[in-house]
Amino acid sequence: MKNILITGGAGFIGSHLVRLMVTKYPHYNIINLDKLTYAGNLENLKDIEGRPNYTFIKGDICDIDLIPQLLRDKNIDGIIHLAAESHVDRSIKDPFAFANTNVIGTLNLLQAAKNYWGEFGREGFEGKLFYHVSTDEVYGSLEQEGTFFTEETKYDPHSPYSASKAASDHFVRAFHDTYGLPVVISNCSNNYGSFQFPEKLIPLFINNICNNKPLPVYGKGENVRDWLYVEDHAVAIDLIFHKGKTGDTYNIGGFNEWRNIDLIKVMIKTVDRLLGRPPGSSDSLITYVTDRAGHDLRYAIDSTKLNRELGWSPSLQFEEGLEKTVRWYLDNREWMERVTSGDYQAYYKQMYNR
Ligand code: NAD
Ligand code: TYD
Repeated sequence: MKNILITGGAGFIGSHLVRLMVTKYPHYNIINLDKLTYAGNLENLKDIEGRPNYTFIKGDICDIDLIPQLLRDKNIDGIIHLAAESHVDRSIKDPFAFANTNVIGTLNLLQAAKNYWGEFGREGFEGKLFYHVSTDEVYGSLEQEGTFFTEETKYDPHSPYSASKAASDHFVRAFHDTYGLPVVISNCSNNYGSFQFPEKLIPLFINNICNNKPLPVYGKGENVRDWLYVEDHAVAIDLIFHKGKTGDTYNIGGFNEWRNIDLIKVMIKTVDRLLGRPPGSSDSLITYVTDRAGHDLRYAIDSTKLNRELGWSPSLQFEEGLEKTVRWYLDNREWMERVTSGDYQAYYKQMYNR
């Protein structure tokens, strides 16, 4: 029996990971700890909420009383840590929230894990794992085509978001090197798929195209991102959690780079086609706006190590994944309406009677 704590499981990637772990491992107890910030939505997990091996706990990773108590009460032997403030634009407006959750929250989890598992010495670390889910944004920005972020690339974060994630990665490695805490880190490229909060490029633009609203393209739309289907990320996390080498870092990405403007044009075409609109109907929605401050030009991940050592590769071609994703948002307009209206936040209160 394994008792696994997943933090941030009501968010975008977390909900896909929780679903995968709960269904694939009926003999594990999956405990989802989430503060339910604006980005947390229990509707994302409606289909598995009654499963006997699944427990949801509303709580803050920064809570210095709750976390040690929770590890002990649930006899946690593995932690997969995803809870974070995750949106760059918000980090520019409110960097303190990012330092608090992403840095202090991670430190609080590390300290609690070290104290609980190492209570009677380092032998207690045997069979335990602290898995930290991070981002490629810690590596900074690539200028030159044909260059990639590898696990050896020096950290060079530019936004308050990436700075806070870089700081948390450093704390995770420090706990490994100083106390011998068994840790593993993965740094993934931009994810897309169902249940993503519509402040991020892909769901925001799909929703705006549907509703004939302007598509705010930052700068000239020339920035490049490397996109991975979220379910492929969840599969990679599962693999690294079970087979990754303790103390190691794994880059996760699909060798799938797109200039924003090219991606936006494909999204427009796909949405128009699926809605039965004549081609080109929504082209005029493209609106160039002031660039994001400190906007990283290009991200591109080299995930060769993960492929070579653990045999992982993405299951979907981008065109297929994007079509699936657009279809999902079109088929789940009520989800989108509840999220954009704020009604989704009432779901928890109604479900849990609080
Ligand atoms: P998200 O914003 O969709 O979800 C974050 C979740 O964390 C939410 O459910 C939120 O309620 C919860 N949370 C926030 N603060 C909390 C706190 N103090 N205590 C407990 N829970 C809290 O984020 P996401 O896109 O699913 O990203 C998950 C993780 O993956 C993050 O660590 C992020 O840095 C990393 N990541 C994301 C991407 C991406 O493209 N989205 C890519 C690589 C890595
Ligand atoms: P985003 O989804 O915010 O992810 P990240 O900043 O973590 O890569 O943005 C993806 C790209 O799209 C990024 O280059 C910024 C750009 N973008 C826009 O041009 N307009 C928008 O409204 C948003 C949200 C993003």
